[in-house]
Amino acid sequence: MDRIAITGGSRLEGELPISGAKNAALPLMCASLLTPDTLTLGNLPHLADIRTLKTLLEGHGVATNVEDEGKDISSGQVITFNTPTITSTTAPYDIVRKMRASILVLGPLLAREGEATVSLPGGCAIGNRPIDLHLKGFEEMGATIELQEGYVRAVAPDGRLKGGIVQFPTVSVGATENILMAATLASGNTTIENAAREPEISDLANCLNAMGAKINGIGTRTLKVNGVDQLHGTEYSVMPDRIEAGSYAVAAAMTGGELELLGADLIKVMTETIGVLKSAGLKFTNTDNGVLVKLGTSKIKGINVTTQPYPGFPTDMQAQVMAMMTLCDGASVINETIFENRFMHVPELSRMGADITVHGSTATVRGVEQLLGAPVMATDLRASMSLILAGLVADRQTFVNRIYHLDRGYERLVEKLSACGANIVREDGKGI
Ligand code: UD1
Repeated sequence: MDRIAITGGSRLEGELPISGAKNAALPLMCASLLTPDTLTLGNLPHLADIRTLKTLLEGHGVATNVEDEGKDISSGQVITFNTPTITSTTAPYDIVRKMRASILVLGPLLAREGEATVSLPGGCAIGNRPIDLHLKGFEEMGATIELQEGYVRAVAPDGRLKGGIVQFPTVSVGATENILMAATLASGNTTIENAAREPEISDLANCLNAMGAKINGIGTRTLKVNGVDQLHGTEYSVMPDRIEAGSYAVAAAMTGGELELLGADLIKVMTETIGVLKSAGLKFTNTDNGVLVKLGTSKIKGINVTTQPYPGFPTDMQAQVMAMMTLCDGASVINETIFENRFMHVPELSRMGADITVHGSTATVRGVEQLLGAPVMATDLRASMSLILAGLVADRQTFVNRIYHLDRGYERLVEKLSACGANIVREDGKGI
């Protein structure tokens, strides 16, 4: 296995291009199953999750073609997805287990073919992460659901889902996306109540409407969908990754540097993160090509922050903010409300000299003067980034192992950071 070696202490400075959002790209790719025409997606990041989903989709009969490889550090890929017929409605365990978001093929397959069999997902080890909300939603639309040998089998009566009222008891990004995609081809109207409002869902809804869907209420708690008989192809560019941008904003502040994060409308999609980071002393300035970030105070300020569904502070930024708070003036309190077991970075940060105490879903972080380099183990995607951030400022060398998590979600991490002055290398085969 590979590892990343970082020698801490370099100030980051320069322009850093932000990639297309993984969490927008994955549902958008699944939307290609809804039409026999060609869906062309641009600004797709080069990530393991994108490759995994591409393989899964190909197994369902999607013909993919990479139109533009996006070789340059600042450009994404353009890939066409064409599905004249669905050749298989089964999503097998050996692919689904690699990536939880594979469950997002269930809605489109069920909507187009009237049945689908999808392995129960695996993915990040950040809690139990059930899919009951997805399944209840499909039942509200008339589907029958059975669990068989680790697979979910969903069947629509008479081959087509029916519109209905889907009221989520808790907000779920994935369940909202799955039901939204399915509802586009259902007979009649569907109302999704207590829908998640993440910008990635709006990106999906806008693309679906460009494909001929009839979705109203985009960006609100209530999505109304008038089902149509068929969707058509379109060309769509994936929105920028607000979590990647937030992670690098933290990197700029921790290293006492200044980064211009490049990406259209970045400041708009990062509003909730920017609010919290500003209270920690970061300064954001709009530029022609993105947003300039630096620490506006002499020391990072301690903050109290609670993760919430959008427009609250994202759980996907929690680990990175915790890494930053290890150096804060005074103490910080971080409350995780979305996932249980999402503090797996704490023992690793502690091995680097951080002072963190966890009680249930609350972590108290007391700032220290200096973090110390150490060999550490990445446990999930965002936890891995918190260790990279800590390594950038730690005394001496940090070796981050199990970096396959980072490959799932941070495009060209080593290239991007070293271009801005970080002393960071990927060491092939040296990891454990
Ligand atoms: C998505 C994101 C992930 C992010 C998360 C929360 C993608 C590919 N992933 O994950 O990066 O951390 O949103 O912003 O977009 N839940 C249930 N039953 C369900 C579904 C969810 O109880 O059927 C619970 C989960 O266990 C969790 C909460 O709801 O506690 C939110 O999960 P959800 O929003 O569904 O997360 P994902 O869509 O899996």
